[in-house]
Amino acid sequence: MSTEKDFRDLRTDYSWGALEETSALQNPFDQFNKWYEEYAKLDALDSTAVTISTVDSAGVPDARVVLLKEVREGNFIFYTNHNSKKGKDLKQNPNVHLLFFWPEMERQIRIKGTAIFMEKEESEIYFNKRPFESRVAAAISPQSEVVPNREYLEEKFFNVLKEKEENDTVEMPKQWGGVKIAPQEFEFWQGRISRLHDRLRYLKVEGNWKIERLAP
Ligand SMILES: Cc1cc2nc3c(=O)[nH]c(=O)nc-3n(C[C@H](O)[C@H](O)[C@H](O)COP(=O)(O)O)c2cc1C
Repeated sequence: MSTEKDFRDLRTDYSWGALEETSALQNPFDQFNKWYEEYAKLDALDSTAVTISTVDSAGVPDARVVLLKEVREGNFIFYTNHNSKKGKDLKQNPNVHLLFFWPEMERQIRIKGTAIFMEKEESEIYFNKRPFESRVAAAISPQSEVVPNREYLEEKFFNVLKEKEENDTVEMPKQWGGVKIAPQEFEFWQGRISRLHDRLRYLKVEGNWKIERLAP
Protein backbone atom coordinates (compact mmCIF):
# COMPACT_ATOMS: atom_id res chain seq x y z
CA MET A 1 0.00 0.00 0.00
CA SER A 2 1.30 3.44 -0.88
CA THR A 3 2.36 5.67 1.99
CA GLU A 4 1.57 8.73 -0.11
CA LYS A 5 -1.72 10.55 -0.49
CA ASP A 6 -2.72 13.54 -2.56
CA PHE A 7 -5.63 15.62 -1.25
CA ARG A 8 -5.08 18.63 -3.48
CA ASP A 9 -8.31 18.13 -5.45
CA LEU A 10 -10.48 17.81 -2.35
CA ARG A 11 -12.29 21.03 -1.59
CA THR A 12 -15.44 22.23 0.16
CA ASP A 13 -17.41 25.31 -0.68
CA TYR A 14 -18.72 27.01 2.40
CA SER A 15 -22.13 28.64 2.23
CA TRP A 16 -23.92 27.57 5.42
CA GLY A 17 -23.97 30.99 7.07
CA ALA A 18 -22.37 34.35 7.73
CA LEU A 19 -20.99 36.25 10.70
CA GLU A 20 -21.33 39.99 10.38
CA GLU A 21 -20.47 42.72 12.87
CA THR A 22 -24.13 43.75 12.80
CA SER A 23 -25.41 40.35 13.95
CA ALA A 24 -22.53 39.24 16.20
CA LEU A 25 -23.34 39.53 19.91
CA GLN A 26 -21.28 42.03 21.89
CA ASN A 27 -20.22 39.50 24.54
CA PRO A 28 -18.22 36.51 23.23
CA PHE A 29 -19.70 34.18 25.88
CA ASP A 30 -23.17 35.02 24.49
CA GLN A 31 -21.89 34.47 20.96
CA PHE A 32 -20.41 31.09 22.02
CA ASN A 33 -23.70 30.07 23.65
CA LYS A 34 -25.67 31.09 20.57
CA TRP A 35 -23.45 29.06 18.26
CA TYR A 36 -23.38 26.11 20.68
CA GLU A 37 -27.21 26.07 20.94
CA GLU A 38 -27.40 25.96 17.13
CA TYR A 39 -24.80 23.18 17.00
CA ALA A 40 -26.51 21.15 19.73
CA LYS A 41 -29.66 20.98 17.59
CA LEU A 42 -27.74 18.91 15.03
CA ASP A 43 -27.18 16.14 17.62
CA ALA A 44 -23.55 15.81 16.59
CA LEU A 45 -21.56 13.12 18.41
CA ASP A 46 -19.65 14.64 21.35
CA SER A 47 -20.79 18.17 20.56
CA THR A 48 -18.80 19.52 23.51
CA ALA A 49 -15.49 18.05 22.33
CA VAL A 50 -12.75 20.65 22.24
CA THR A 51 -9.05 20.49 21.40
CA ILE A 52 -6.85 21.99 24.08
CA SER A 53 -3.29 22.97 23.30
CA THR A 54 -0.65 23.35 25.98
CA VAL A 55 3.07 24.06 25.86
CA ASP A 56 5.75 22.12 27.75
CA SER A 57 8.83 23.46 29.54
CA ALA A 58 10.89 23.21 26.33
CA GLY A 59 8.30 25.34 24.46
CA VAL A 60 6.96 22.33 22.54
CA PRO A 61 3.20 22.42 21.94
CA ASP A 62 0.89 19.46 22.53
CA ALA A 63 -2.82 19.06 21.79
CA ARG A 64 -5.60 16.64 22.65
CA VAL A 65 -9.40 16.48 22.77
CA VAL A 66 -11.32 16.81 26.04
CA LEU A 67 -15.01 17.29 26.78
CA LEU A 68 -16.16 20.72 27.87
CA LYS A 69 -18.33 20.25 30.96
CA GLU A 70 -19.35 23.78 31.93
CA VAL A 71 -19.11 27.42 31.01
CA ARG A 72 -19.47 29.13 34.35
CA GLU A 73 -18.52 32.46 35.89
CA GLY A 74 -16.41 33.39 32.89
CA ASN A 75 -14.56 30.06 32.73
CA PHE A 76 -14.53 27.15 30.30
CA ILE A 77 -14.24 24.00 32.44
CA PHE A 78 -13.10 20.44 31.74
CA TYR A 79 -11.96 17.60 33.99
CA THR A 80 -8.80 15.54 33.88
CA ASN A 81 -5.91 14.05 35.80
CA HIS A 82 -3.81 16.96 37.08
CA ASN A 83 -0.65 14.77 36.88
CA SER A 84 -1.24 13.89 33.21
CA LYS A 85 0.97 15.32 30.47
CA LYS A 86 -1.44 18.22 29.99
CA GLY A 87 -1.57 18.74 33.76
CA LYS A 88 2.23 18.90 33.95
CA ASP A 89 2.33 21.35 31.03
CA LEU A 90 -0.24 23.57 32.74
CA LYS A 91 1.64 23.58 36.04
CA GLN A 92 4.65 25.23 34.41
CA ASN A 93 2.80 27.25 31.75
CA PRO A 94 -0.90 28.07 32.26
CA ASN A 95 -1.36 29.45 28.73
CA VAL A 96 -3.74 27.43 26.58
CA HIS A 97 -5.70 27.52 23.38
CA LEU A 98 -9.09 25.87 23.02
CA LEU A 99 -10.29 24.94 19.54
CA PHE A 100 -13.82 23.94 18.59
CA PHE A 101 -14.42 22.73 15.01
CA TRP A 102 -18.04 22.29 14.01
CA PRO A 103 -17.79 21.19 10.36
CA GLU A 104 -21.55 20.68 9.88
CA MET A 105 -21.94 24.44 10.35
CA GLU A 106 -18.61 25.36 8.77
CA ARG A 107 -17.54 27.00 12.01
CA GLN A 108 -14.41 27.18 14.12
CA ILE A 109 -13.98 28.88 17.50
CA ARG A 110 -10.55 29.63 18.93
CA ILE A 111 -10.15 30.71 22.54
CA LYS A 112 -6.91 31.91 24.11
CA GLY A 113 -6.87 31.72 27.87
CA THR A 114 -5.16 30.97 31.14
CA ALA A 115 -5.79 27.79 33.13
CA ILE A 116 -6.09 27.26 36.86
CA PHE A 117 -6.75 23.97 38.67
CA MET A 118 -10.09 23.64 40.39
CA GLU A 119 -10.10 23.02 44.15
CA LYS A 120 -10.83 19.52 45.50
CA GLU A 121 -14.27 20.29 46.97
CA GLU A 122 -15.53 21.88 43.75
CA SER A 123 -14.09 19.04 41.61
CA GLU A 124 -15.81 16.45 43.80
CA ILE A 125 -19.24 17.83 42.91
CA TYR A 126 -18.74 16.70 39.31
CA PHE A 127 -16.70 13.56 40.15
CA ASN A 128 -19.57 12.20 42.22
CA LYS A 129 -22.01 12.75 39.34
CA ARG A 130 -19.95 10.53 37.02
CA PRO A 131 -21.11 6.97 36.31
CA PHE A 132 -19.62 4.35 38.67
CA GLU A 133 -17.32 2.84 36.02
CA SER A 134 -15.99 6.26 35.02
CA ARG A 135 -15.16 7.04 38.65
CA VAL A 136 -13.35 3.72 38.99
CA ALA A 137 -11.43 4.28 35.74
CA ALA A 138 -10.34 7.75 36.89
CA ALA A 139 -9.24 6.29 40.21
CA ILE A 140 -7.06 3.51 38.76
CA SER A 141 -5.60 5.18 35.66
CA PRO A 142 -2.21 6.90 35.99
CA GLN A 143 -3.10 9.05 32.97
CA SER A 144 -0.26 9.62 30.49
CA GLU A 145 2.12 7.20 32.27
CA VAL A 146 3.57 4.23 30.38
CA VAL A 147 1.86 1.01 31.54
CA PRO A 148 3.01 -2.56 30.82
CA ASN A 149 -0.09 -3.60 28.87
CA ARG A 150 -3.91 -3.45 28.76
CA GLU A 151 -4.26 -6.38 31.17
CA TYR A 152 -2.48 -4.32 33.84
CA LEU A 153 -5.21 -1.65 33.62
CA GLU A 154 -8.06 -4.15 33.39
CA GLU A 155 -6.83 -6.01 36.45
CA LYS A 156 -6.72 -2.82 38.51
CA PHE A 157 -10.14 -1.80 37.18
CA PHE A 158 -11.88 -5.14 37.83
CA ASN A 159 -10.29 -5.50 41.27
CA VAL A 160 -11.95 -2.26 42.35
CA LEU A 161 -15.22 -3.26 40.65
CA LYS A 162 -15.20 -6.55 42.60
CA GLU A 163 -14.51 -4.75 45.87
CA LYS A 164 -17.25 -2.21 45.49
CA GLU A 165 -20.94 -2.38 44.82
CA GLU A 166 -22.50 -0.26 42.08
CA ASN A 167 -23.56 2.50 44.45
CA ASP A 168 -20.47 2.48 46.65
CA THR A 169 -18.46 5.61 47.10
CA VAL A 170 -15.36 5.81 44.99
CA GLU A 171 -13.14 8.46 46.47
CA MET A 172 -11.96 11.07 44.01
CA PRO A 173 -8.23 10.56 43.46
CA LYS A 174 -6.27 13.55 44.77
CA GLN A 175 -4.65 14.15 41.36
CA TRP A 176 -8.00 14.35 39.55
CA GLY A 177 -10.15 17.45 39.08
CA GLY A 178 -11.36 20.35 37.05
CA VAL A 179 -9.42 22.86 35.02
CA LYS A 180 -10.87 26.34 34.60
CA ILE A 181 -9.87 28.41 31.62
CA ALA A 182 -10.41 32.15 31.70
CA PRO A 183 -10.46 33.47 28.12
CA GLN A 184 -8.68 36.65 27.06
CA GLU A 185 -9.41 36.31 23.36
CA PHE A 186 -11.99 34.57 21.16
CA GLU A 187 -12.10 34.16 17.40
CA PHE A 188 -15.29 33.06 15.63
CA TRP A 189 -14.75 31.75 12.10
CA GLN A 190 -17.55 31.16 9.63
CA GLY A 191 -16.74 29.63 6.25
CA ARG A 192 -17.96 31.71 3.28
CA ILE A 193 -17.99 31.36 -0.48
CA SER A 194 -14.79 31.87 -2.51
CA ARG A 195 -12.66 31.54 0.62
CA LEU A 196 -13.74 35.00 1.82
CA HIS A 197 -14.46 33.65 5.26
CA ASP A 198 -15.72 35.70 8.21
CA ARG A 199 -13.38 36.00 11.18
CA LEU A 200 -14.38 38.09 14.17
CA ARG A 201 -11.92 38.42 17.02
CA TYR A 202 -12.98 39.54 20.48
CA LEU A 203 -10.19 41.06 22.57
CA LYS A 204 -10.55 42.00 26.21
CA VAL A 205 -9.45 45.63 26.55
CA GLU A 206 -9.78 47.27 29.97
CA GLY A 207 -12.59 44.94 30.94
CA ASN A 208 -14.55 45.42 27.70
CA TRP A 209 -14.71 43.18 24.65
CA LYS A 210 -13.48 44.83 21.46
CA ILE A 211 -14.53 43.19 18.17
CA GLU A 212 -12.23 43.24 15.15
CA ARG A 213 -12.50 41.60 11.73
CA LEU A 214 -9.50 39.58 10.59
CA ALA A 215 -8.65 38.81 6.98
CA PRO A 216 -9.36 35.20 6.06
C1 LIG B 1 -13.91 12.67 22.32
C2 LIG B 1 -12.84 12.64 23.38
C3 LIG B 1 -13.12 13.12 24.66
C4 LIG B 1 -12.14 13.12 25.64
N1 LIG B 1 -12.41 13.69 26.86
C5 LIG B 1 -11.44 13.77 27.79
C6 LIG B 1 -11.67 14.48 29.00
O1 LIG B 1 -12.74 15.11 29.22
N2 LIG B 1 -10.68 14.50 29.92
C7 LIG B 1 -9.47 13.87 29.71
O2 LIG B 1 -8.61 13.91 30.59
N3 LIG B 1 -9.22 13.22 28.55
C8 LIG B 1 -10.16 13.15 27.59
N4 LIG B 1 -9.91 12.52 26.39
C9 LIG B 1 -8.59 11.87 26.21
C10 LIG B 1 -7.54 12.92 25.83
O3 LIG B 1 -7.67 13.27 24.46
C11 LIG B 1 -6.10 12.45 26.12
O4 LIG B 1 -5.86 11.21 25.49
C12 LIG B 1 -5.82 12.29 27.61
O5 LIG B 1 -6.43 13.33 28.36
C13 LIG B 1 -4.33 12.30 27.89
O6 LIG B 1 -3.77 13.50 27.40
P1 LIG B 1 -2.34 14.03 27.88
O7 LIG B 1 -1.42 12.83 27.93
O8 LIG B 1 -1.91 15.04 26.86
O9 LIG B 1 -2.52 14.65 29.24
C14 LIG B 1 -10.86 12.55 25.37
C15 LIG B 1 -10.58 12.06 24.09
C16 LIG B 1 -11.55 12.13 23.11
C17 LIG B 1 -11.19 11.66 21.71
